[in-house]
Amino acid sequence: MIAARSKEDIIAAARIEEVVADFVNLKKRGTNFVGLCPFHTEKTPSFHVSPSKGIYKCFGCGKGGDAVSFIMEHEKFNYPEALRHLANKYNIAIEETGDANKDQGDKMVKDSLFIINQFAQQYYHDNLSKTSEGRNIGLAYLKERGFTDEMKKKFMLGFALSEGDAFMKNALMNGYQHELLKKAGLITQKGNDDIDFFHSRVMFPLLNLSGKVVAFAGRIMGKDERAPKYINSPETEIYQKSALVYGIFQARNAIRKEDECFLTEGYTDVISMHQAAIENVVASSGTSLTPEQVKVIRRFTNNITLLYDGDPAGIKAALRGLEMMTEQDVNVRVVLLPDGEDPDSYLHKNGTAAFKEFIRINKKHFLQFKTALLLTDAGSDPLKKADVIKNIVETLAKIPDTVKRSILIKESSTSLDIGEQVLITEVNKIKRKQFKKETGAPAFEADRLYDDASEEKSPSQRNEAVEKDYYQEAGIIKLLLEYGNLEMEDGQKVIDLVLDEIKEAPLCNHDFQLMIHEMEELFKRGEAVDHHFFINHPEQKFRDITLTVIAFPYHLSENWDKKHEIFITTPQKNYKKDVVSTLHHFKLHKLMNMKLENQQQLKSVKGNAEDETHYMTVNMKLDEWISQLGKSLGTVTLSYFK
Ligand code: GTP
Ligand code: MN
Repeated sequence: MIAARSKEDIIAAARIEEVVADFVNLKKRGTNFVGLCPFHTEKTPSFHVSPSKGIYKCFGCGKGGDAVSFIMEHEKFNYPEALRHLANKYNIAIEETGDANKDQGDKMVKDSLFIINQFAQQYYHDNLSKTSEGRNIGLAYLKERGFTDEMKKKFMLGFALSEGDAFMKNALMNGYQHELLKKAGLITQKGNDDIDFFHSRVMFPLLNLSGKVVAFAGRIMGKDERAPKYINSPETEIYQKSALVYGIFQARNAIRKEDECFLTEGYTDVISMHQAAIENVVASSGTSLTPEQVKVIRRFTNNITLLYDGDPAGIKAALRGLEMMTEQDVNVRVVLLPDGEDPDSYLHKNGTAAFKEFIRINKKHFLQFKTALLLTDAGSDPLKKADVIKNIVETLAKIPDTVKRSILIKESSTSLDIGEQVLITEVNKIKRKQFKKETGAPAFEADRLYDDASEEKSPSQRNEAVEKDYYQEAGIIKLLLEYGNLEMEDGQKVIDLVLDEIKEAPLCNHDFQLMIHEMEELFKRGEAVDHHFFINHPEQKFRDITLTVIAFPYHLSENWDKKHEIFITTPQKNYKKDVVSTLHHFKLHKLMNMKLENQQQLKSVKGNAEDETHYMTVNMKLDEWISQLGKSLGTVTLSYFK
C-alpha cells in the first residue's frame, strides 16, 4: 500500500494543467485553460481546467475532478494505479506500508509470470520467421487466412513448434526457472517428464488491460476432429478466464472514441475487423459473456453491440448474456450475421463496405431482437403470446434508466402490438414490488415513485378503491375469458351464470362493460365465448385487456391476502370453485362500496330525521348481506374490510 505521506506528496506535486496536457490540447483563457473534452465527442471546447483550484470540469458532459481523478477516468486506473502513474510522472519515490513482505512476495510472483509470458510471446512470434517449420506451416497458415504483417505484429501472433520440448529447452537456456515455466502453464507433466503445453498451434497471446501477456490461446492447424480447435493456458495468478476480454488492450482507445464496443465470439474475428480498420472490437472467447467481462468493457463504453453467428446456438448464447448486461445499465444491441458466418468469414467474402452496411441495417436493440425471436417461437398461439409479453415486461422492468426504459416501452408496444399504457402499468407494478421489497418503504412511497403519468383508465394511478374495483372487475373478465364455455354443476354455462349474477351489480369499467356486452351477444348466438375471440378482436383495447388479464393473473391478487390467491392460481379443473369464489368476492366488494356510499349520504343528511332513518335502514340491510356473504367466504372477509 502507498503510505499516506507519499500520497500527500503526489497530490501536492501533481499540477492539473500539466497532467491534463499529456492527453488534451489546452489553450489558455484568462487564468484557466480550455480544450476539447477527452470524455465525449465535441467540436467546440467546453472542457475547462483551473490551475488555481486544481480541478477540471467539462460543461458538456459534466465530468470533473482533480488530477488523480482525471487519470483514473482517462486511463481507467483505480486509485492506487493513478497515484503510481503520477508518482512516475513527477519522479516521486513511493513509500509502501502494510504487510510489505507478503505484498512484495505476491508482486514478485506476478511480475515473474508477466516476464516469462513476455519471453514466451517473443519466442513464439520469432518462430514464425526464424524456423522453417514456423515459416512453412505457421506463417503459411496465417497467410492463407489473409492476415497482414501489421496484424501479426499488432496481435503478437506466433507459432508453437511440433517438437515436444522446443519452448522449454529455449526458456531454460535463457535462464528461466523450470518452476516458473510450470507455474505459468507453459509446460506440463507428461509421464515422468515435463513437455511444452502447446504444440503445432498458431499462438494468440491474451493481454490484460495494460497490454501485458497473461496467457495464450493456441489454434490447431487445419481440421482435426479429435483435438479441440483452441486450447488456452491454465488459469494462474495473473490469468482469470472469466475476466479476460480478448483484444481490449488494442481496442480501448477506439472503444472510447466511438463510444461503442463490438463484441465477437472469436479471436480471428477481432483481428480481421482491425484489419478492416474497425478497431473498437473485442471477443468473449466462445463462452457466453460474464459479468466480469462486462465490467471491463464498461470502463470504456456503455454501448455493446454483439456480432453473432445467426445459428440457433449463437442466438441462445447471445440471449444469455443480454439480461445480465441490461441490469448493469449497458445498452445492448445485436447484429445476427448470416447463418454460419462470423465477422472474419463475412469480411473475407464480402469486404469491409458490405460488412459495415450489414451492421448498419441489421443492428437491433436487444429487446427488439428478443421480442422478434420470442414472437416467432410463439407463432399464433395467444397464450404463448401472453407469455412473451410477460417475459418482455419483466425485462423492461430490469432497465435501470427511466428515460431508456420509457423509450423501450414505446418500441415494445409497437412490436408486441399492445397498448403502451398496458406495458407502463405492468412494468410499474413490478418496479413497485421490487422497490417495496428492496427498501421496505411504505407502499405510498413506492406508488409515488412508480406512478404512471397517464389519464387513461390505468388501475394504479387511481386511488385504492378504484384500483380494487378494477381488479375485482378484471377478475370477472378473466373468469369469462377462461371458463365462459364450461358448465357448472347444474349444467348452466359459466357465461350464463355470470351474466345473471352481475345484472344487479354491473361492472363500472366502461371497456369491461363493452366486452361483457359482446360476450352476451356471442352467447345468445350460440358461439363460443373465449379469449381466442378477443385476442383477435379488431379493437386494440380489447386485445390489450385480454392479454393483460391472461398474462398477469398475479396482479389480480395483489391486494388480496394469501387465501384469496388460491382462486387465481387454481388449475382449470377447479374452475367451478373459482367461479363461485370470484363472484362472491365481486359481490362483496360491490356491497362494500355501496356501504361506503351510503355512509356518506348518511353524513350529508345529518339532522334530517326522516332521511337519516332511511339511510340507517339501508345500512343495516347492507350489513346483513355482507355478513352473509362473508360467512360463505370464511374469515378472510375481515381483513378485506380493513
Ligand atoms: P477460426 O475457425 O480460426 O476462424 O476461429 P473462430 O474464432 O471463428 O472459431 P469458432 O467460431 O469455432 O469459436 C469461437 C471462439 O470460441 C474461438 O475464437 C475460441 O475463443 C473459442 N473456442 C472455439 N473452440 C474452442 C475449443 O475447442 N476450446 C476452447 N477453449 N475455446 C474454443
Ligand atoms: Mn472463424
